[in-house]
Amino acid sequence: MSSENFATLAFMIDKKQLPKVVYDDMNRVHYDEADLINALLHTLEDGEDQAVTEAMEALLEHMKVHFDYEEGMLKNRGFSMFDIHRHDHARITNETRMAYMNWRNFKDREALSEFIEDDFIEWLELHIQAMDSVAAEFLQKHGEKE
Ligand SMILES: [Fe+2]
Ligand SMILES: [Fe+2]
Repeated sequence: MSSENFATLAFMIDKKQLPKVVYDDMNRVHYDEADLINALLHTLEDGEDQAVTEAMEALLEHMKVHFDYEEGMLKNRGFSMFDIHRHDHARITNETRMAYMNWRNFKDREALSEFIEDDFIEWLELHIQAMDSVAAEFLQKHGEKE
C-alpha cells in the first residue's frame, strides 16, 4: 500500500472503534451509517461528481432513518434527555444539509472532505458516547415501547 493510500484510509471510520452502546439494534444503525460515510469518502477520493452527490444524499437519507428510529423509541416516555438528544440530531442534520448545498453549488471536494472528516465523524463519535449510550441504557432498563 502506498503512503498516499494509507493517508486516505486513516480518515475512514473503523467500525470496531466506534463507541458501542448496550442496545444492539442501535449499534447496527451506527455501523450502517459508518459504511455510508466510508463510501462517501471513497467517492470523494476518486469518484465522479454525480457519485459524490448520490453518496451525500444516501447519507442524509440514512441520517433521517437513524434519527427518526431513535426519537421514535424515546419520545413520550419521560426520558429526561429527549429534547437535548433530538436537538443534537437536528443540529448535525442542518450542518450536513448545508455541506450538501455547498457541494451542489461549488463542487469543492476538499471542503466536503473536511466537513465529513473533521466535523461529522467527530460528531458521530461524541454523540454516541454522550447521548446514544444514555438512551440505550434507558431502553434496556425500561424496555421497548409496546
Ligand atoms: Fe444514534
Ligand atoms: Fe442519537
